[in-house]
Amino acid sequence: MRNIIIAGNWKMHKTQAESQEFLQHFKPLVEETNPGREVVLCAPFTALGTMSQSLHGSRIRLGAQNIHWEEQGAYTGEISGAMLWEMGVQYVVVGHSERRQYFGETNETANLRVIAAQKQGLIPILCVGETKAQRDAGETESVIIQQIQRGLVNVDQTQLVIAYEPIWAIGTGDTCEAQEANRVIGVIRALLSHPDVTIQYGGSVKPDNIDEIMAQPEIDGALVGGASLDPQGFARIVNYQ
Ligand code: PGA
Repeated sequence: MRNIIIAGNWKMHKTQAESQEFLQHFKPLVEETNPGREVVLCAPFTALGTMSQSLHGSRIRLGAQNIHWEEQGAYTGEISGAMLWEMGVQYVVVGHSERRQYFGETNETANLRVIAAQKQGLIPILCVGETKAQRDAGETESVIIQQIQRGLVNVDQTQLVIAYEPIWAIGTGDTCEAQEANRVIGVIRALLSHPDVTIQYGGSVKPDNIDEIMAQPEIDGALVGGASLDPQGFARIVNYQ
């Protein structure tokens, strides 16, 4: 059985105070949500401590947005698995396209981070996806295959989430057609050795398209950026029909 996981990726949004304000509104809206759906908030590092306290006893899980592959050391600005784990973090986003585009993340460094997360008992959410130019050039499959194969070297597929996020659909309002997302996710699934890996779709997921996205047989959840910042909107996404 594949788990359904709806995760919010707050990116560089929300102070501690703003995260508290969000939870105050959001928590009651997801109390009745089908228990078969995992609800995750991937918050900035600085909000994790206060959120962890407020989420004590809640069904909402905490996620982070990066992890370094070493356990400690001279890596200014990075964060270790133990530091996240101590904060009550259970999921961590790895290899997001913004990390790849702006901060030099590669398939190889993403792979090291996935392994480090698993070693710490955290579940990595490995992000893959093609650019508009790659899609237009007919390279979608080859790019995805490379990202998956290189990203998953020596990775335990029983403790893994993958997010298919076509880069041209992220933050643009230009959602990938649900059937096309379903098709590419099928391509990803065929590359995996474990049958029950949760594969999410991400890229301009909104309250008004989540029902169609989740109706697709290959899609096991969503990784939601902009629309996860608003408690009512994100609750509607979590409570998709
Ligand atoms: P978006 O971002 O929902 O704002 O398009 C998705 C993501 O980057 O994970």
